[in-house]
Amino acid sequence: MTLQTAQWPQPDPAGLASSAALSARIVACIEAAGGWIPFSKFMQMALYEPGLGYYAGGSQKFGADGDFVTAPELGSFMAAAIVATITPSLRELVSPKLVELGAGTGALAFAILAQLAETDFKHLTYAILEPSPELRARQRTKLAQFGDRVTWLDSLEPASIEGVIIANEVADALPVERFAKRDGRSLIQGVACDAGQFIWRERQAEATEIAAVDDLEQQLGEALPDGYESEYCALLAPWVTTVADALRRGLALLIDYGLPAREYYHPQRNRGTLICHYRHRAHNDPFMFPGLQDITAWVNFSGLAAAASSAGMTVAGYTTQGGWLTESLLRSDAQLTNIAVEHLAKLKTLVLPGEMGERFKVMCLSKGLPAPLLGGRDMRKWL
Ligand SMILES: C[S@@+](CC[C@H](N)C(=O)[O-])C[C@H]1O[C@@H](n2cnc3c(N)ncnc32)[C@H](O)[C@@H]1O
Repeated sequence: MTLQTAQWPQPDPAGLASSAALSARIVACIEAAGGWIPFSKFMQMALYEPGLGYYAGGSQKFGADGDFVTAPELGSFMAAAIVATITPSLRELVSPKLVELGAGTGALAFAILAQLAETDFKHLTYAILEPSPELRARQRTKLAQFGDRVTWLDSLEPASIEGVIIANEVADALPVERFAKRDGRSLIQGVACDAGQFIWRERQAEATEIAAVDDLEQQLGEALPDGYESEYCALLAPWVTTVADALRRGLALLIDYGLPAREYYHPQRNRGTLICHYRHRAHNDPFMFPGLQDITAWVNFSGLAAAASSAGMTVAGYTTQGGWLTESLLRSDAQLTNIAVEHLAKLKTLVLPGEMGERFKVMCLSKGLPAPLLGGRDMRKWL
């Protein structure tokens, strides 16, 4: 697809210079690797290359002046739903704490801590694991008023947490591998360079990559059709295993856009789910302005659930964001009557099926605790 980007807002000179520097680094990496890198490597560098990657560099990212809007940026509704969902579980624990992975601007942490101030959990501590130094700095400023209650972690240590781990839109930011089925074989789609431009190029899959696609086909119970293209996230299972291992006892609440494997790898979704966000335009060219746009893929919730179960967690709930938010807010202390018009518009964005309500799912994983009431339709049988 050729993108008609001439009418789109253009980056400023500093942004263009930063993007050019990142592109040069990626080109050097491609050359050092013999002319080709897997897409996961490109995505890793485009998002996280120190100082230059999208999440590591200085672009605005969130909100009206950024590239996309996440639920925590749309008021405190998500925080209220989380507090309502986790409070009964917090009561079961001796000295619980909250841990957020990938906290973005710190908006969700701020709203949760503000709401807990009205409850028995006003002294609860909140730790954040945020790989982006730029976002960490923003979080420190945003959360300064909570003092020592907020800390930052460099990693999740095994059995270190009794409490709740929260991750909103983090799994979709993990680099993915792109693959294609051609003549019954699996090919891996990667990135090469031609006349100074990044281009897609396919190569034969190696044993681990063939095994990953075979595994998907086994889960689906059938081979993917010829010509089919999609992606899988090899980092998803290790990521959720780290979460499971870190919890001695407690919950993990994972919220993201995604689908069960059967829908994710539906024959009609034959170009995958990779999507880029630049100044509130969604498109499918990951090579545009490296470092200045988000690159993301939907989450395979069946894969997430299977990895979590193997790591010793129970899939305690799985439903749509719309169903979960609506029921949790009705159970919570949130004031839903006389709601201001601008807040109502944000709530609609979060819950309506055509907006974020159906696309986004909530998965609750538990360890050593009774399953909390998630609300919404119980969709675990579709996983
Ligand atoms: C799309 S943003 C979502 C931010 C925030 N949770 C929100 O909803 O506004 C993705 C976030 O995940 C972080 N991230 C990426 N990989 C991560 C990882 N492996 N562990 C923890 N956070 C990660 C990014 O730095 C960023 O803060």
